[in-house]
Amino acid sequence: MELSTERLSLRPWREDDAPDLYACASDPRVGEAADWPPHRNVAESRTVIREIFSAPETYAVVLHETGRAVGCIGLLRGDAGYIALQTDEAEVGYWIGVPYWGRGLIPEALRALVNHAFDDLHLATLWCCSFTENRQSQRVQEKCGFRYVRTESEASGRTIRISRLDACDFRTSRNDRLTLRRADERDIDLLHTLADEAFTATYRELLSPEQLVYMLERMYAPETLRRELHAGFAWFIAEADGTPCGYVSVERQAERLFHLQKIYVLPRFQGCGVGAFLFRHAVDYIRDLCPGHGTMELNVNRRNRALGFYQRMGMRRLREGDFPIGNGYFMNDYIMGLEW
Ligand SMILES: CC(C)(COP(=O)(O)OP(=O)(O)OC[C@H]1O[C@@H](n2cnc3c(N)ncnc32)[C@H](O)[C@@H]1OP(=O)(O)O)[C@@H](O)C(=O)NCCC(=O)NCCS
Repeated sequence: MELSTERLSLRPWREDDAPDLYACASDPRVGEAADWPPHRNVAESRTVIREIFSAPETYAVVLHETGRAVGCIGLLRGDAGYIALQTDEAEVGYWIGVPYWGRGLIPEALRALVNHAFDDLHLATLWCCSFTENRQSQRVQEKCGFRYVRTESEASGRTIRISRLDACDFRTSRNDRLTLRRADERDIDLLHTLADEAFTATYRELLSPEQLVYMLERMYAPETLRRELHAGFAWFIAEADGTPCGYVSVERQAERLFHLQKIYVLPRFQGCGVGAFLFRHAVDYIRDLCPGHGTMELNVNRRNRALGFYQRMGMRRLREGDFPIGNGYFMNDYIMGLEW
């Protein structure tokens, strides 16, 4: 695997990097910060490359400009790190040679590694540990979105500062990562794919498998979606960094009455603010169409956890009912309302 940034490539170490490694790692200031002794000769650097830097997800930080290895960055898994890691977690480690300090190279490398960890390896959390006096490293972590968790004292007397970055925060913490667009007929297949994942995950435990398939096909069949789009239902798709992550649809039922038909977030994006983002945009859309006063209603299965979400969004329970949907199936719903 090789990762590339504007100024760097991150690639596996090779034994012929040993002289470059020695040039950086023989300076005691580097090892001091990372807690290893300075390398004494090129042969020792070669051994480190062979025995330590050969671990998976360990990269030489190579300058495009010179082709030289100037630092190291990687992901520690299992019990290889300082922290006790879960299987979907890793600890990041990095250093760069002294002549290259202060040029923003490690933040650039770390951003690429973080993208890779979440997007390709699908990790849930990254951790980072540094000595408390290492302000430079803390800045790197802050720049890349890591948040302080705690400090721990080591037997040696030094104090370790621990920070973490969750996939969820990474995906959506910055609002500019989330965008919304109005769906049209070209999105029918995409909506079906999103629903296949989000709808199925939602109702797997609430409905029988037969009813689930029946409802999915009834609500998301291409002809149904096409008909709704033509009838003026407004469908919106949320994207996080360009990746579709959820959708919402709204129907105008009367001059001042709207129905929020659907709001679904892909499971791995849930709890990250995407639902609130979709909900607020749907309400803004409706209120633009209907200034003054109006009502938005929706149906929610009485056993669906989304009920708590709707209450958090300011909706209240108006009534309940069991609604036949064909084939002997019912939707056992609360009707929620929001008025303005
Ligand atoms: C319901 C759903 C749309 C919410 O979206 P989400 O992205 O998970 O929610 P958010 O992260 O935006 O949460 C927004 C707020 O609601 C709160 N919230 C979310 N789910 C909640 C729940 N089940 N109970 C109580 N509060 C909840 C969050 O804590 C957050 O509060 P905060 O603003 O104080 O931090 C999403 O979880 C989902 O797609 N669920 C499955 C599909 C579904 O049930 N759709 C509704 C069909 S009727």
